[in-house]
Amino acid sequence: MNVHRYERWWLTFGIAMLVIFLAIIGFAAFADHINPPTGMRQIDPTKVSQTPPFDKPGLRKLGDGSYEAYYVAKVFNFDPAILTVPTGAKVTFYVTSADVVHGFFIPNTDINMMVIPGWVNVESHTFTRPGEYLLICHEYCGIGHQNMFGKIEVRS
Ligand code: CUA
Repeated sequence: MNVHRYERWWLTFGIAMLVIFLAIIGFAAFADHINPPTGMRQIDPTKVSQTPPFDKPGLRKLGDGSYEAYYVAKVFNFDPAILTVPTGAKVTFYVTSADVVHGFFIPNTDINMMVIPGWVNVESHTFTRPGEYLLICHEYCGIGHQNMFGKIEVRS
Protein backbone atom coordinates (compact mmCIF):
# COMPACT_ATOMS: atom_id res chain seq x y z
CA MET A 1 0.00 0.00 0.00
CA ASN A 2 1.61 3.31 -1.02
CA VAL A 3 1.17 6.47 1.02
CA HIS A 4 -1.37 7.93 -1.39
CA ARG A 5 -3.73 4.94 -1.20
CA TYR A 6 -3.36 4.85 2.58
CA GLU A 7 -4.53 8.48 2.86
CA ARG A 8 -7.46 7.80 0.56
CA TRP A 9 -8.51 4.89 2.74
CA TRP A 10 -8.54 7.10 5.83
CA LEU A 11 -10.47 9.81 3.98
CA THR A 12 -13.11 7.27 2.91
CA PHE A 13 -13.25 5.89 6.44
CA GLY A 14 -13.64 9.40 7.88
CA ILE A 15 -16.46 10.27 5.52
CA ALA A 16 -18.23 6.98 6.29
CA MET A 17 -18.00 7.65 10.03
CA LEU A 18 -19.32 11.18 9.52
CA VAL A 19 -22.30 9.85 7.53
CA ILE A 20 -23.06 7.27 10.22
CA PHE A 21 -22.72 9.90 12.93
CA LEU A 22 -25.07 12.33 11.15
CA ALA A 23 -27.55 9.49 10.54
CA ILE A 24 -27.60 8.69 14.26
CA ILE A 25 -28.06 12.37 15.18
CA GLY A 26 -30.80 12.73 12.58
CA PHE A 27 -32.59 9.63 13.79
CA ALA A 28 -32.37 10.77 17.42
CA ALA A 29 -33.93 14.12 16.48
CA PHE A 30 -36.63 12.37 14.47
CA ALA A 31 -37.35 9.85 17.24
CA ASP A 32 -37.52 12.73 19.72
CA HIS A 33 -40.04 14.50 17.52
CA ILE A 34 -42.37 11.53 17.04
CA ASN A 35 -42.34 10.38 20.66
CA PRO A 36 -45.02 11.95 22.83
CA PRO A 37 -44.06 13.80 25.98
CA THR A 38 -44.97 11.59 28.93
CA GLY A 39 -48.68 11.16 29.50
CA MET A 40 -49.84 13.05 26.43
CA ARG A 41 -52.75 11.70 24.41
CA GLN A 42 -53.06 11.99 20.66
CA ILE A 43 -55.92 13.71 18.84
CA ASP A 44 -56.60 14.41 15.16
CA PRO A 45 -55.97 18.20 14.97
CA THR A 46 -58.32 18.53 11.97
CA LYS A 47 -61.23 16.99 13.95
CA VAL A 48 -60.86 18.74 17.34
CA SER A 49 -64.33 20.33 17.11
CA GLN A 50 -65.89 16.87 16.59
CA THR A 51 -63.79 14.97 19.15
CA PRO A 52 -65.25 14.64 22.68
CA PRO A 53 -64.66 16.22 25.10
CA PHE A 54 -63.14 18.99 22.95
CA ASP A 55 -66.36 19.29 20.92
CA LYS A 56 -67.74 21.01 24.06
CA PRO A 57 -64.83 22.87 25.68
CA GLY A 58 -65.30 24.05 29.25
CA LEU A 59 -65.49 22.94 32.86
CA ARG A 60 -66.57 19.55 34.25
CA LYS A 61 -67.03 18.92 37.96
CA LEU A 62 -65.87 15.52 39.15
CA GLY A 63 -67.39 13.44 41.95
CA ASP A 64 -64.54 14.20 44.34
CA GLY A 65 -65.12 17.97 44.02
CA SER A 66 -62.20 18.61 41.69
CA TYR A 67 -62.58 19.94 38.16
CA GLU A 68 -61.46 19.22 34.64
CA ALA A 69 -61.20 22.08 32.17
CA TYR A 70 -61.08 21.27 28.46
CA TYR A 71 -59.54 23.97 26.29
CA VAL A 72 -59.10 24.41 22.56
CA ALA A 73 -56.44 26.88 21.46
CA LYS A 74 -56.59 28.31 17.96
CA VAL A 75 -55.54 31.52 16.27
CA PHE A 76 -56.04 33.76 18.22
CA ASN A 77 -58.13 32.76 21.20
CA PHE A 78 -58.83 30.15 23.83
CA ASP A 79 -62.14 28.33 24.11
CA PRO A 80 -63.44 28.83 26.78
CA ALA A 81 -62.32 32.47 26.96
CA ILE A 82 -63.36 32.76 30.61
CA LEU A 83 -63.40 30.00 33.21
CA THR A 84 -65.03 30.50 36.63
CA VAL A 85 -64.17 28.23 39.56
CA PRO A 86 -64.60 28.46 43.34
CA THR A 87 -61.66 29.18 45.63
CA GLY A 88 -59.81 26.02 46.56
CA ALA A 89 -60.77 24.25 43.33
CA LYS A 90 -58.27 21.78 41.97
CA VAL A 91 -58.46 22.15 38.21
CA THR A 92 -56.84 19.80 35.71
CA PHE A 93 -56.38 21.55 32.38
CA TYR A 94 -56.57 19.49 29.18
CA VAL A 95 -55.43 21.55 26.24
CA THR A 96 -55.13 20.94 22.53
CA SER A 97 -54.69 23.05 19.42
CA ALA A 98 -56.88 23.13 16.34
CA ASP A 99 -54.14 24.70 14.20
CA VAL A 100 -50.59 25.75 15.13
CA VAL A 101 -48.39 25.53 18.24
CA HIS A 102 -49.62 27.78 21.04
CA GLY A 103 -48.65 28.40 24.66
CA PHE A 104 -50.83 27.98 27.75
CA PHE A 105 -49.43 29.95 30.65
CA ILE A 106 -51.21 31.14 33.81
CA PRO A 107 -48.81 33.34 35.83
CA ASN A 108 -48.68 32.66 39.60
CA THR A 109 -49.80 29.05 39.10
CA ASP A 110 -48.23 25.70 38.14
CA ILE A 111 -49.70 25.95 34.64
CA ASN A 112 -47.12 26.41 31.89
CA MET A 113 -47.63 24.26 28.79
CA MET A 114 -46.96 24.06 25.12
CA VAL A 115 -50.04 23.32 23.06
CA ILE A 116 -49.09 21.14 20.13
CA PRO A 117 -51.52 20.22 17.34
CA GLY A 118 -52.20 16.47 17.50
CA TRP A 119 -51.58 16.22 21.24
CA VAL A 120 -53.48 16.85 24.48
CA ASN A 121 -51.32 18.44 27.16
CA VAL A 122 -52.34 18.15 30.82
CA GLU A 123 -51.44 20.06 34.01
CA SER A 124 -53.20 20.67 37.32
CA HIS A 125 -53.36 23.56 39.75
CA THR A 126 -55.26 24.22 42.97
CA PHE A 127 -56.51 27.81 43.11
CA THR A 128 -56.14 28.64 46.78
CA ARG A 129 -56.50 32.42 46.39
CA PRO A 130 -59.53 34.18 44.89
CA GLY A 131 -59.04 36.68 42.10
CA GLU A 132 -58.58 36.97 38.36
CA TYR A 133 -55.84 35.04 36.64
CA LEU A 134 -54.62 35.75 33.13
CA LEU A 135 -54.23 32.91 30.67
CA ILE A 136 -51.56 33.83 28.15
CA CYS A 137 -50.36 32.32 24.88
CA HIS A 138 -46.58 32.46 25.28
CA GLU A 139 -45.58 30.70 22.06
CA TYR A 140 -45.44 32.89 18.97
CA CYS A 141 -48.34 31.73 16.78
CA GLY A 142 -48.83 34.49 14.22
CA ILE A 143 -49.94 38.06 13.71
CA GLY A 144 -52.49 38.05 16.56
CA HIS A 145 -50.27 36.24 19.07
CA GLN A 146 -49.95 39.17 21.46
CA ASN A 147 -53.77 39.41 21.69
CA MET A 148 -54.28 35.74 22.49
CA PHE A 149 -55.30 35.44 26.11
CA GLY A 150 -58.08 34.26 28.38
CA LYS A 151 -59.15 34.63 31.98
CA ILE A 152 -59.69 32.40 35.01
CA GLU A 153 -62.02 33.84 37.65
CA VAL A 154 -61.59 32.34 41.09
CA ARG A 155 -64.60 33.26 43.18
CA SER A 156 -64.51 33.30 46.96
CU1 CUA B 1 -51.31 31.53 20.32
CU2 CUA B 1 -49.35 32.81 20.56
